[in-house]
Amino acid sequence: MTSERECYVYIVPPGATEFVTAGRFSVSSTPDGEAVGEFVYGRHYLERDDAVELDPVELRLRRGLYETARMDGLFGAIRDSMPDFWGRRIIERNIGHPQLEEFDYLMQGPDDRAGALGFGLNVEPPAPLRSFNRTLDLERLQATADAVINDMPIIADSAARQVEELMLLGTSMGGARPKTVVKRDQDLWLAKFTRYDDRWNHPRVEHGLLKLAQACGLTVADSDITTVAGRDVLLVRRFDRDRAEDGYRRHRMVSALTLLRSDDSAAARADWSYILLADEIRRVSAEPTADLHELFGRMCFNAAVSNLDDHPRNHAVLAKKRDWRLSPAFDLTPTPVIAIDRRDLAMTCGLFGRYANRENLLSEHGRFLLSEKKATAVVDGIVETVRAEWQSTMRGAGVSDADRKAIAGAFLYDGFFYEKAV
Ligand SMILES: Nc1ncnc2c1ncn2[C@@H]1O[C@H](COP(=O)(O)OP(=O)(O)O)[C@@H](O)[C@H]1O
Ligand SMILES: [Mg+2]
Repeated sequence: MTSERECYVYIVPPGATEFVTAGRFSVSSTPDGEAVGEFVYGRHYLERDDAVELDPVELRLRRGLYETARMDGLFGAIRDSMPDFWGRRIIERNIGHPQLEEFDYLMQGPDDRAGALGFGLNVEPPAPLRSFNRTLDLERLQATADAVINDMPIIADSAARQVEELMLLGTSMGGARPKTVVKRDQDLWLAKFTRYDDRWNHPRVEHGLLKLAQACGLTVADSDITTVAGRDVLLVRRFDRDRAEDGYRRHRMVSALTLLRSDDSAAARADWSYILLADEIRRVSAEPTADLHELFGRMCFNAAVSNLDDHPRNHAVLAKKRDWRLSPAFDLTPTPVIAIDRRDLAMTCGLFGRYANRENLLSEHGRFLLSEKKATAVVDGIVETVRAEWQSTMRGAGVSDADRKAIAGAFLYDGFFYEKAV
């Protein structure tokens, strides 16, 4: 016997603010544990003038059945719409039993997921979420996030309120850190909280690193700090939402994990590569040269500041209209490890593997459509800016003297400059 779960997939077309039904997705599993996913675009959807593809690699806009046996039957674009570590923790806490199937995680959670997709059991899509928490609700949300992290009971006015609050804690946004989505000045922002076990002020350090990346000429998400009940919260403006007269436009967003047709398993990590990502972006992007130069800059920046958590979920492409472009940079954090000879990025960055080293970064310049001379100018320009400005940028972001000392080892470690990378 096989079991089957299915749902409808909705999408907000470019320029619109309401969902339409794009197709149907199902996963069937056989008794021996094999899962097969199927997706088909709806006939009405394909007839629409504003019909767009769900992603630029796997689910191109055409009639007929798509099938996958990878990742428990999940297509990359659907996996990207699912909660990650933090969101799963909230859902498990809310539902009260951890025996959920992948499909359950897809169906759970409020309508705040990254990108333009939605999922549900009715052929008619639901109305979009109209009310959002505001920054003034952050104190309450932060307290709820603390309780989740500490596995403590949540004190709320009523059981219903408790569930509502839990589920609004960034359930559907990815990532591991505690977060939620709030509305500020009519825009939607991702609010990232502190954790009690943080070794330094994460919100301010991430804010500072985003500003430093910008100072290096990179395109980054807007960010700000707000202080709630004496604790700092990082606000990052969502670049996959834009306010319109009658709601929010939603831009499609696909992670680099999907572009690389990869996943989180140990075996798949061999495909995690800036070089392979560059090849994919060259095919997918409407402005390949500009996007590849930007990607090269980000790779060099991550190596220069030891952002070693630069895995493929922390890179994405975004489609505001029909065309795909590299998204602004997000989730930048320094990892001050002790090693001074060799540090590795999360993705291959040259002929010598993941080694965060200048010579290695330069070794595949052609794949980023850069001459050796230009690539050298980019990496050296980033090094100069990081050297000259990291302290003052961090100070400007309100990072304390003690925290600057704690993260200092992340910037321009010795091994970055070694020649003859091996
Ligand atoms: N500014 C943004 N706009 C839209 N989506 C974002 C933005 N920043 C992050 N995301 C999405 O949310 C996910 C989690 O955010 P991230 O900053 O990576 O959190 P974490 O530190 O927990 O990994 C990302 O993987 C990405 O899909
Ligand atoms: Mg992340």
